[in-house]
Amino acid sequence: MSGSHDAPLTLGLWLRMAHARLAPVIGPDEAARDLRRIAMHATGLSAAQLGIGGGDVLAPAAQAAADAMLAARLAHRPLAQILGAWPFYGRSFHVTQDTLVPRPDTETLIELALERPFSRMVDLGTGSGAIAVTLLAERADALGLASDISQAALEVAARNAQRHGVAARLDLRHADWWDGLAGVFDLIVSNPPYVTQADYARLAPEITQWEPRAALTPGGDGLAAYRQILGGLGPYLAAGGRCLVEIGAEQGRDVAAIFVAAGLVDVAVHADINGKDRVVSGRRGQ
Ligand SMILES: C[S@@+](CC[C@H](N)C(=O)[O-])C[C@H]1O[C@@H](n2cnc3c(N)ncnc32)[C@H](O)[C@@H]1O
Repeated sequence: MSGSHDAPLTLGLWLRMAHARLAPVIGPDEAARDLRRIAMHATGLSAAQLGIGGGDVLAPAAQAAADAMLAARLAHRPLAQILGAWPFYGRSFHVTQDTLVPRPDTETLIELALERPFSRMVDLGTGSGAIAVTLLAERADALGLASDISQAALEVAARNAQRHGVAARLDLRHADWWDGLAGVFDLIVSNPPYVTQADYARLAPEITQWEPRAALTPGGDGLAAYRQILGGLGPYLAAGGRCLVEIGAEQGRDVAAIFVAAGLVDVAVHADINGKDRVVSGRRGQ
């Protein structure tokens, strides 16, 4: 973008012009929020500096970077992928087009997992590694295994494990759910693909065009991954060990039934901070 030919382009003017283009595409509030983040990333200014730096002339390199990020956002690319990192449970995770962007909803699973001690955990379908890396970072004496069917996602998870200092305690494996995995765990966690085929078609383009389909939906009724994970967990869950999975808001009853059919006890459905069913938990009896 350029200002009028005799006035240099200031940051404030860039923000106003960019907002006029982005607001009709993603809405005025989201456009304002995303453009502030883009401007901070392009200029290196903090949020506070941005507030007082509106009159600063944009350096050519910063303007080129901001313009490229604006073009990507106009094409519905998620801000997390544009910035290359996204916060989760107080830590910054590297994300790419090969991984699901970690969602705040998933922090419910983290809170529940951390309510009790564990020493050996497995995270099935680890994606960016958000769950496994967070749990190991929060529990410095625990060991973990994390798997994914996407080799590209595992590379992102490895980078996040390094970034947060848990790589030596996290074994990353390329696997189709339990296939080829070994070990006995006192905590099994997963945020598997669970969107139904019908709901997937109604999701925003930020999701359907830019995030991996295999991370979001197993097709059909959305329950196939739970059936495979719970159906196969027998040899892997220690006596007294817990299993927690993230679910879609309408799936509590169905997934709880899958837990019960797998022989788990104390099966419960937990709501997230918005009051929506978000996690099912269960335990193997002693
Ligand atoms: C909803 S994403 C969750 C990513 C991450 N755990 C999170 O919470 O942000 C589901 C993940 O499961 C992986 N996945 C899908 N099918 C799989 C399978 N058959 N075996 C292992 N992982 C699978 C996807 O590649 C994706 O990374």
